[in-house]
Amino acid sequence: MKVIVAVDKEWGIGNKGDLLARIRADLINFKKLTDGKTVILGSNTIATFPGGKALKNRVNLVLHPDLAYDAIEGATVVHSIGEALIYASRYPSDDVIVIGGASIYRQFLPYCDTAYVTKFDKSFEKDVYFPDLDASDEWECVSVGERQVSDGNTDTEAGLGFYFTEYRRIKG
Ligand SMILES: NC(=O)c1ccc[n+]([C@@H]2O[C@H](COP(=O)([O-])OP(=O)(O)OC[C@H]3O[C@@H](n4cnc5c(N)ncnc54)[C@H](OP(=O)(O)O)[C@@H]3O)[C@@H](O)[C@H]2O)c1
Repeated sequence: MKVIVAVDKEWGIGNKGDLLARIRADLINFKKLTDGKTVILGSNTIATFPGGKALKNRVNLVLHPDLAYDAIEGATVVHSIGEALIYASRYPSDDVIVIGGASIYRQFLPYCDTAYVTKFDKSFEKDVYFPDLDASDEWECVSVGERQVSDGNTDTEAGLGFYFTEYRRIKG
């Protein structure tokens, strides 16, 4: 299982229920890495998608706390980690990607062996975090892409530096 996330300099990932920044190149990278795959996400995160709808061309597994709730168009709603893992086991592990938010990252990171991390070269105001993989002895950074800079025409802010990085779980 893999995980994809965008973090700021302190591994912050969101503020007041929203993303820290919307960067077109990052969204394209997200689409490339998740297209055709199974994504695991929380009910708060799917609520932030346009119209609260599932992502197209992906199996959407949504964790929802309300057992009676199963109606998200285009998504499969599950109500526990166990249920999500059983459902995800129908697919090759490499094709299952955890896409957030904070509570889902925390619970599913132990099952992941690869993390695609977009690193924003800035400290944002934030209220939710991803675990700091640089401070973890269970993870190592295996790739850091070239520094890129956001474009004020397509992105929520101009001049934001960012890197695409990849981490792998250190085999014990
Ligand atoms: N930077 C990024 O890459 C990125 C990506 C995605 C999201 N985000 C950000 O993350 C924030 C949202 O994170 P979040 O933690 O508030 O929301 P979330 O993880 O998307 O969803 C939380 C919801 O899922 C439910 N849930 C969690 N675990 C469950 C389980 N095991 N069984 C059943 N239901 C479960 C929770 O229920 P309970 O309330 O009962 O726990 C809660 O209703 C936003 O700011 C968003 O923009 C950032």
